Amino acid sequence: MELKLPDMSPILDWYRANARKLPWRRTRDPYRIWVSEIMLQQTRVEAVLPYYHRFLARLPDIAALADCPEGELMKLWEGLGYYSRVRNMQKAAKGIMSQYGGAFPQNFEQILSLPGIGEYTAGAIASFAFDLPYPAVDGNVLRVAARLLAFEEDVLAPASKKALTAAVWAAQSPERAATYNQAVIELGATVCLPNGTPKCEVCPLAGVCRAREQGLQTVLPVRKKPTPRKVEERTVLILREGDRVALRQRPSSGLLASLFEPFSLKGRLSAGEVMEKLTGAGLEILRVGDLGAAKHIFTHVEWQMQGYEVILCEKSAETGLKKLDQGLFFVRRYEIDEGYAVPSAYSAYRPFM
Ligand code: ADE
Repeated sequence: MELKLPDMSPILDWYRANARKLPWRRTRDPYRIWVSEIMLQQTRVEAVLPYYHRFLARLPDIAALADCPEGELMKLWEGLGYYSRVRNMQKAAKGIMSQYGGAFPQNFEQILSLPGIGEYTAGAIASFAFDLPYPAVDGNVLRVAARLLAFEEDVLAPASKKALTAAVWAAQSPERAATYNQAVIELGATVCLPNGTPKCEVCPLAGVCRAREQGLQTVLPVRKKPTPRKVEERTVLILREGDRVALRQRPSSGLLASLFEPFSLKGRLSAGEVMEKLTGAGLEILRVGDLGAAKHIFTHVEWQMQGYEVILCEKSAETGLKKLDQGLFFVRRYEIDEGYAVPSAYSAYRPFM
């Protein structure tokens, strides 16, 4: 399918006058742009800003990222989620050090071949840092294009994505790759908003938008419903002895790889059942307190949790813990703050850790 967008040039002036002043737009340093794009992949701009500044203050360049100890790296990312993003960044940083002598590659194919960098991110870095003429089409941009064209098919189908990307790219101002890409992203992020609330009254392209002309701006884009998430019920146990709580490290691959977490049991158990299980495993318990229910939504799975604080008897705490799970160990609360990255999936229970 071939799609043709209207003249997009009004967005360049619109962008200059209206764009948010974001720190990664005031730099041409590919490293800083890369960090921002990776953080922005699953996280909102406002949430990214403090992480972005802290990350770059501690890791100002590729060499620093390549050398950062894993625990510290996870700590810098704690709260942003999707930790494989930062693991891939470190892998890429090490590759840049060894393959390119520490200089970020300036060639699109080389950028695209770095771990964790897909078509969108490679196009964003190539255009923002080096003004190379490559498209950077993310969800924001697909929405803008689908509305401008009154495109009624599923935008996430590969053929749609390909055709919309080609249309966005054919409509660019080639000598302005950076501004053009930023401008379309910005229009999608601040004007051509998702969920049926576009601000057409301030849009520089309202006059040429086919969705608006046909009254379809609130129903487009069409996205096929993804398969429903799997629900997992877990009972989260904050095992405490004095000012120490028990943690274990998750496996080195899979969801939340290598991060630290409290002990948990499958299913949603009552306080009585928790008591029974733990006593059966050989722990001596002084008290079980209800910490309430919480849930956390990942891309493919949803955790529905019930939390309890379990106060252990000092004498047998250490041996009981090992009987329960060889991986569990006690840490003091202040030590968690300093050195153990706990995923935000557990944030409802973090005050008790
Ligand atoms: N989302 C993804 N990339 C972005 C950028 N450069 N500016 C604002 N939001 C973004």
